[in-house]
Amino acid sequence: MPNSQPLSAIETAGPEATSDQRDDARPSTGVGAPVEIRGLSKHFGRVVAIDDVSLDINPGEFVALLGPSGSGKTTILMSIAGFEQPTSGRIRVAGRDVVPLPANKRNIGMVFQKYALFPHLSVADNISFPLEMRGWAKSRRAEAVQRALETVRLEGYAERMPSQLSGGQQQRVALARAIVFEPPVLLMDEPLGALDKKLREELQLEIKRLQQRLGITVLFVTHDQGEALAMADRVAVMNQGRIEQIDTPQVLYNEPETLFVADFVGDSNLLTGVMADAGPPGLGRLRLTAGDCVSGRVATSGDGNPAAGRPATLMVRPENVRLRPAETWGTSDGPTGTVRDIVFGGATNMFVVELHGGELRAQIPAGPGGNGRIGVGDRVEISWDDRNAMIFPAERST
Ligand SMILES: Nc1ncnc2c1ncn2[C@@H]1O[C@H](COP(=O)(O)OP(=O)(O)OP(=O)(O)O)[C@@H](O)[C@H]1O
Ligand SMILES: [Mg+2]
Repeated sequence: MPNSQPLSAIETAGPEATSDQRDDARPSTGVGAPVEIRGLSKHFGRVVAIDDVSLDINPGEFVALLGPSGSGKTTILMSIAGFEQPTSGRIRVAGRDVVPLPANKRNIGMVFQKYALFPHLSVADNISFPLEMRGWAKSRRAEAVQRALETVRLEGYAERMPSQLSGGQQQRVALARAIVFEPPVLLMDEPLGALDKKLREELQLEIKRLQQRLGITVLFVTHDQGEALAMADRVAVMNQGRIEQIDTPQVLYNEPETLFVADFVGDSNLLTGVMADAGPPGLGRLRLTAGDCVSGRVATSGDGNPAAGRPATLMVRPENVRLRPAETWGTSDGPTGTVRDIVFGGATNMFVVELHGGELRAQIPAGPGGNGRIGVGDRVEISWDDRNAMIFPAERST
């Protein structure tokens, strides 16, 4: 288990106390370093945990690694931190090849899901630990610890023991300990996973602000797509050891390149059928299993092009689906269905519509302009703007 690395190894991650080495790995204090990953693979026996991953992270950029359990997120972090030896590939931090370096020479901060504080040390001593390992003088250590405590808004907690802190406070101490030596790169592996939703959202904002203020480069692992979209400058979506797509949250959400990304990022309806024909340029029509035809943009890259007659899947986000009562005859050739459920959501309501052989969700604003007249059991016509739906081949051609 990568997460059970000996704490001593983690805590001492960073260069020796000589200024030469520190300067080598850290070109300028407090400024993020670029991270460059080329053709990185990691095999555990027959398990391919990382499969030829290349990734460039700009100085001061916040990149999230998002993906399902077992997709290789932690293994990438551990390879950068130096706790896993890659099977092949190159990792450069601040332009320097770090693969031959032991973890404690890489000058990289790391925060884990479990706070991993020393239970027998006070908050101040926990934060001071990496500085002691680096041989910092006492007065300089005290100053840095104080600054780190202020940074994570825990002034006044210096003498507490970890057991006297809440989960969120403990994670802020872990964060302070990871940044106290001003690493140019900070790796975070599901750091908020153990916290409740409200606290998680608070800390998401805090970490983001902190990262912007310090200007450090952050690689942040999560399997929570909301967290990745909210925090990151760019999100890398991982699937089975590979990066499927890396883009800004907006592009990932609006222009997913593969069905996997479309499904994993954001809320989506997936309708399966057979590719009917190509419509106007870029648009395509899909014949659903029940016989209705639906249209959408044909995805241009990733899984390849869906050919006529081949199985394909159309993705449309619930907020882009429109409903109207199916009482008027002959006005639509689109699919119709029956409302099975209306889930109250405050500003919007989620209509669950049963189709032939499937289900579709429509997120409709509440109040005027919403679908207040439509109730459970009603027949409805379903439509969307073709540009808001995307068609992917059901099988990958690659
Ligand atoms: N030390 C190991 N020995 C053998 N297999 C491993 C080892 N570490 C990881 N793996 C395997 O490598 C793959 C990737 O694991 P990894 O921990 O990187 O996934 P992850 O994306 O972090 O998942 P999660 O979201 O569950 O933390 C998995 O199939 C896992 O079982
Ligand atoms: Mg993991």
